[in-house]
Amino acid sequence: MAAGAINHHSRRRFSQRKARTRRNTTIESIRNLAPKCKSCVAMIRTDIIQEFAKSGLLIAQEAVITIQESETPLDLVNEILKHLDESVVVIGQSDVAVAQTSLNARKKVVKSLTFHGQAGEEAEVLTVNATEEADMAIGQPCRQKPQPIKVLADITECSTCVGTYEEFVRYFRNRYDRLSEIIGRRLNSRPIESLAYWSPRQEGLFDEERSAGGKTSIVGIVNETRDTPNGHRVIDLEDSTGYFSGIALKNKAAYDAALQVVLDEVIGITGSLSSDGKVLFIDNVTWPDIPPKHEPAHAESDVHVALTSDVHIGSKTFLTRAWKNFADWLASSEDERAQKIGYVIVAGDVVDGIGVFPNQEEELAIDDIDDQYAAAASLFEMLPSDVSIIVAPGNHDAVRQAEPQPALSNDYAKSFSGNVTCIGNPSLIELCGVNILIYHGRALDDIIAAIPGCSYGNPDGAMREMLKRRHLSPIYGNRVSIAPESNDHFIIDSIPDILHSGHVHTIGASRYRGVTVVNSGAWQGQTKYQRSQNINPRPGIMPVCNLASMETTFVNFLEPDKGLISA
Ligand SMILES: [Fe+2]
Repeated sequence: MAAGAINHHSRRRFSQRKARTRRNTTIESIRNLAPKCKSCVAMIRTDIIQEFAKSGLLIAQEAVITIQESETPLDLVNEILKHLDESVVVIGQSDVAVAQTSLNARKKVVKSLTFHGQAGEEAEVLTVNATEEADMAIGQPCRQKPQPIKVLADITECSTCVGTYEEFVRYFRNRYDRLSEIIGRRLNSRPIESLAYWSPRQEGLFDEERSAGGKTSIVGIVNETRDTPNGHRVIDLEDSTGYFSGIALKNKAAYDAALQVVLDEVIGITGSLSSDGKVLFIDNVTWPDIPPKHEPAHAESDVHVALTSDVHIGSKTFLTRAWKNFADWLASSEDERAQKIGYVIVAGDVVDGIGVFPNQEEELAIDDIDDQYAAAASLFEMLPSDVSIIVAPGNHDAVRQAEPQPALSNDYAKSFSGNVTCIGNPSLIELCGVNILIYHGRALDDIIAAIPGCSYGNPDGAMREMLKRRHLSPIYGNRVSIAPESNDHFIIDSIPDILHSGHVHTIGASRYRGVTVVNSGAWQGQTKYQRSQNINPRPGIMPVCNLASMETTFVNFLEPDKGLISA
């Protein structure tokens, strides 16, 4: 046997040892096959099929051919077995591609080591054997082993409502009770009903109004906002005892704040009652808001999370090349961040869906919803299997459209690999001690339309308004269809360390009172529909958050040569 052949087989044995994590006895019969010999190739074809069959697996013909044509078929077989999810029955090209990507990434490390002058069989043995320590040896960081995902809040399998009138009453009472309790910690308010029996001219002036200089505060759900003919702003509030109107005069400081008030949110207003006691002249508007200095949690290890959304696989404008660049980047060791990513979060719109907007069928490359999710599974399989992928649904996904939305059912998620976790929308999760509130963000349409200064070009600004209101979807009855669950799942009770949304297909990141706010863009180019709506997406650019430092950076996969960008 030639020395080269010895080297080749030696390398393969060590590769086998390293790769053998399960089904490790299935490769014995092809261990000594030489892949370049024609007769051996014929045997390999049979043996490859048999080896997978021993594990109860079938393999597609084209996948067999790809394995045969690879430089190291035996290594590839091992790698496929190592990466396979238990649910896989038929091995396809995508399984081979995932294994090949992983194999190539490891070979890169080996090459770096062999460059230091080691050669021959012994060198080959050493380099492969040393691969596990290679990261330290050449300064390459190991991928952080992800800790388990803790789901802290999620509607999945907890929905109880059917949409009755009584349920809506209960839902808004729950909203009022919880948010007014938060405001009540900072505002000494009175029930609206009590104002009907009180006027500053009356002798029975309450002590607290005396001490507050005649100021009165009430807390309620915003029932209506309107402008008077003279340009003042009226806000009608409602609590469980009645209605009352406040007015912000256009030449007063509270006027700008009053313009920020949206329907159905819970606020407090403070001011002076009119002489007839029928209206409150607003001096101040109080939102539930988060404390001024929320101290965010930090991960103890340097683990990173890739924040993404709006994949829209199935659309003709899905950016295949950008996604491929993403997968290659994750598997590479060129960017330190890539190797530190333990999690990828997809905040909704995994697929483009069917019939979501007018004439959508003209813009679909895949017009079957099952096929769209199968394609999504293939996309996820392109990513390293040691990265945890967390998937929430959006308004394009195949779950109920009323929010909160449960996780994708197994009907659609069945082809996802074992490293994919499906959660609801919204959901609060904990990764390495850091709380991340994930909401697809359909309510951003309503917020941007209602609040002066908010825009699609600055989505994190609109998301900060959610934090200020301690509510992800305050406006009822416009774009967002709300399911009247007994608990208002949109209320931000527990202050997150990261608020992550998508939906608007633009990007942005900022910090608000200690909370990192990120909108994660899309993987879909501009559609005809978006063009008609004058929506200009910024796809293919992905935020990456370091959970230890809470620093967010962006990676441009659409135009990788342009490198880092700022949002
Ligand atoms: Fe989307």
